[in-house]
Amino acid sequence: MSEPYYITTAISYPNGRPHIGHAYEAIAADVIARFHRQMGRDVRFQTGTDEHGLKMAQKARELGQTPRELSDEMSSYFMQMCEKLNISHDRFIRTVEDEHHKASQAIWKAMEANGDLYLDRYEGWYSVRDEAYYDEKELIEGEGNEKLSPQGTPVEWTAEETWFFRLSKYQEPLLKLYNEKPNFLRPDSRRNEIMRFVEGGLNDLSVSRTSFDWGVKVPGSDGHVMYVWVDALTNYLTGLGYPEKTKNYNKFWPADLHLIGKDIVRFHSVYWPAFLMSAGIDLPKQVFGHGFLLNKGEKMSKSVGNVVDPVALAYAFGVDQIRYFLMREVNFGSDGSYSAKAIVTKTNADLANSFGNLVQRTLSMIFKNLDGAISADWKEGDADKALYETVSSACGTAFQHAFTDLDFSKALDGWVQAVFACNQYVDEQAPWKLKKEDPERMRAVLNNLFRCIRVLAIAVQPVIPNSAGKLLDQMGVAADARSFADVQDSDWLQQLADNGFTLEKPAPLFPRLEMPEGEEKA
Ligand code: MSP
Repeated sequence: MSEPYYITTAISYPNGRPHIGHAYEAIAADVIARFHRQMGRDVRFQTGTDEHGLKMAQKARELGQTPRELSDEMSSYFMQMCEKLNISHDRFIRTVEDEHHKASQAIWKAMEANGDLYLDRYEGWYSVRDEAYYDEKELIEGEGNEKLSPQGTPVEWTAEETWFFRLSKYQEPLLKLYNEKPNFLRPDSRRNEIMRFVEGGLNDLSVSRTSFDWGVKVPGSDGHVMYVWVDALTNYLTGLGYPEKTKNYNKFWPADLHLIGKDIVRFHSVYWPAFLMSAGIDLPKQVFGHGFLLNKGEKMSKSVGNVVDPVALAYAFGVDQIRYFLMREVNFGSDGSYSAKAIVTKTNADLANSFGNLVQRTLSMIFKNLDGAISADWKEGDADKALYETVSSACGTAFQHAFTDLDFSKALDGWVQAVFACNQYVDEQAPWKLKKEDPERMRAVLNNLFRCIRVLAIAVQPVIPNSAGKLLDQMGVAADARSFADVQDSDWLQQLADNGFTLEKPAPLFPRLEMPEGEEKA
């Protein structure tokens, strides 16, 4: 029985169309999910949309729609984005689903049964944009002296009767959690920030609203809907069938990883574990707060007009190109920047000119000079062995450790260095010259490159699944023989030869990208 692995993304507010920040998170989670599948684990991957709350209600009112009309329309764009970007989720959850309302009410009742909910009057600051309550002491001053949230968003004074959650009671248990399980929250910089926040003392949290009704009804309390984060966080349980102890629930909870952006770490590492402790539910193993993606170094915003549609970007540059760029270029956990120029430069350098070129010249020579035939009996020289070892080690444990540690740029850096080593070997060995001088040696060189390319393609599948898949198809590598464990299979070449495999004329994998019109060429 393979070990289960449950990964989730944040669920996005469908108050507008998805932007590249949403795409970044979906891609990173997909890369992780595919990696673990390739490691032989039984993966469950969930994403979706967070459709309740004041932000959705206000946006809908602004557009003259009902909140449900707005969320139906916008949620469909998030689904389309996932499809276009080749996101391999098992479940796309929408918080308007009946099942989700049931799950949210069940966790509410469990917290209530534990004595952690009480009615009182809330008076304080609320940011609709962040869907968050803030203490007076956290606020900052805007340019016109107005009060702003620590994220720089407008806040409004709110006063209403609400249900409270006894968050203060969980201060010590939370600090114990961060201390005893340092990996619960990563990266360390975010963990330190959260520890300081919790050490500063926790106020009880207002967890219901009475001034609007777009949300999950509080059980047995007419006129109250749950604070949107209570239901939003519960999505991670809903998707497994909670409150029923389903097969999926038993197998996949607690989640292995909640992948989220740095702006919502507090909700996931303070509120969520406190709710779970209160409800008597096991805690997720890890919360990782990734950095923000900036457009040419600037924050994306509708007013600046630099919000980019990820689907359009994928049409312009290619899905695998975008995926590769984001995972290679951004140091995971830190903020990263993207621009058309950077995408074109990086993917041309690594994919078209290096990996694509290596594949194209090797497979073309096998096709032309060896009639597409692969063989297992060829004499291996020192240089051949050294190259195969370089490739195997860059794509082996070092690559897997870096991936497990979510250090994608490091893993891909090792991978691309191995690609460079292969290209250097081609230049040194010059198989085109060997055709006349020493055909046996040419055969050895090309076979060696063929096996190296197989390892490179298997390793990079999580990042560029379409291109790597097509390449492995062309190379006759069976679809069920593409896991990390299969790399070790030393009979593979022999079997391919025994089956009489012949390579067809290879089709180029990565076109060279041009800068789109209107983008500066400097
Ligand atoms: N609905 C909440 C999450 C609830 S999870 C139980 C929310 N939605 S969101 O649409 O604002 O953001 C969804 C995810 O996208 C979050 O993890 C957020 O950090 C991430 N990003 C939003 N903008 C981003 C960038 N510019 N760059 C990278 N990630 C960004 O928060």
